[in-house]
Amino acid sequence: MTDPKTRPAWQKLLDHAATLRPRHLRDLFAGHPRRFEDFSLAWGELLMDFSKQRITPETLNLLHELAEAADVAGWRSRMLAGDAINHTEGRAVLHMALRAPESQAASFGGSDIAREVQQTLARMQAFCGAIHEGSWRGHSGEGITDVVNLGIGGSDLGPRMVVRALAAYEQPDLRVHFVSNMDSADLAPLLARLNHRSTLFIITSKTFTTQETLANARTARAWLQAQAGHDVAVWRHFVAVSSNLEAAAAFGIPARNVFQFRDWVGGRFSLWSPVGLSIALAVGFHHFEALLAGAHAMDQHFIQAPARENLPLTLALLDIWNTNCIGACSHGIFPYSQSLELFPAYLQQLEMESTGKSVDRQGQPMETKSCPIIWGASGTNCQHSFFQLLHQGGQPIPCDFILLKQADFPLPGHHPQLLANGLAQSAALAFGQSAEEARQAGIPAALLPYRTFPGNQPSTTLLMERLDPHGLGQLLALYEHKVFCQGVLWNVNAFDQWGVELGKQMASVLLPCLEGESCPAHLDASTRGLLRALS
Ligand code: F6P
Repeated sequence: MTDPKTRPAWQKLLDHAATLRPRHLRDLFAGHPRRFEDFSLAWGELLMDFSKQRITPETLNLLHELAEAADVAGWRSRMLAGDAINHTEGRAVLHMALRAPESQAASFGGSDIAREVQQTLARMQAFCGAIHEGSWRGHSGEGITDVVNLGIGGSDLGPRMVVRALAAYEQPDLRVHFVSNMDSADLAPLLARLNHRSTLFIITSKTFTTQETLANARTARAWLQAQAGHDVAVWRHFVAVSSNLEAAAAFGIPARNVFQFRDWVGGRFSLWSPVGLSIALAVGFHHFEALLAGAHAMDQHFIQAPARENLPLTLALLDIWNTNCIGACSHGIFPYSQSLELFPAYLQQLEMESTGKSVDRQGQPMETKSCPIIWGASGTNCQHSFFQLLHQGGQPIPCDFILLKQADFPLPGHHPQLLANGLAQSAALAFGQSAEEARQAGIPAALLPYRTFPGNQPSTTLLMERLDPHGLGQLLALYEHKVFCQGVLWNVNAFDQWGVELGKQMASVLLPCLEGESCPAHLDASTRGLLRALS
């Protein structure tokens, strides 16, 4: 098997999609009174309503047939057993081991891994204690007031998003900052505000070779020395999170200041590893543990729940349906929670770096479309920027709405209004407004073409009890496992990211040209022209 389209189950699904195409969500709801009951899943404090997807019971049957044909369960077992399912890099995929309690950790990748995970967690806990209690001292004897995570991609987006999401759990007296871009506009204004005596930098880089992170780390180290006015012991103000101990040592960070993690943790799946050190510092180690526990609970669900009740598998199948059968090219993520405002950006890496591929596991070009463009913003802000296109732009764009039952920062009257808007948008997108309804609502005839809404926009609503560390851990693991299932269904390796390499290599060729050295002759006319304009 190479292209998923060659599976008979896929073909059946495409035939079914053709028969379902003329049916509007209005008809599907009218003809199926138990639609909400049949197309929603409740698990713990999470409710997933997918009744506003353009599906019938037959669609779901066929999607599950596809999951069986693709052997999602078999691939899941291979991942759990520590097989090198990331075959292009020869690596296992064991981020679930990072969040398994000690008693169960050995079942995720073996007892050595379990022991190492627990030892690392114990070191992280002790480190957090030293920072929070003030026993970790800077070069002049002051305690730490500011922590700066220097990292990019998976070494930034996950922890940054979680720290933002859990603002309600912030530790007093410690500010945690994130700098990712090599554009000095990211680091410079922050350095201008920081006190060198009480600032700690975490260099977070799995490889410890990433240009952006190293550029920022070198500048931060130089800033520290310059501010102090004398030679400062780097280790008092720098720790590293990496799998490359040698490179960290070469930078001046001794092994005792390095929190190591292994190559079986992919960058975009790494916030559960010491990459989450900034999270533990920001919200307290016990809340970091609760985050891990929430993710572990979702792991258990993903492993044990039957396919029909399996939340990650269901989400993945719905995405396959929307992308490959309905023809959606993008997928909107709309958390009705300001605290989750960075969730869409985090998901962009998680999904697009994982399944944004057009070569399958066997190295063959694919006919089947894979990952849609992931985008989004928090509600209600999104309603006042791009929702117009969702309502009347004429393109099918599936949406995930994420709603919280309880507000994390309650103010009188706000939360019901927020929820009302989230619910209203998913209903308006699904059912629209016909010309007749608009007429009855008193819209003048001349404006009817502009004031009708086609609807039929599919969406899933995830209802969480509250945004606490445990619930957030569940949510993130839900999407991680969804991505795993999609990788299997599309037959792509969801754990490599070769596509980001070419640009990096080209940048290193172009840098000398910008620094006044001669440029290689093979450069294209456009790049040469731009370089000339920059010189
Ligand atoms: O952008 C490519 C990438 O390799 C991501 O996969 C990764 O999360 C990011 O760069 C950062 O890598 P590192 O943690 O090694 O600095």
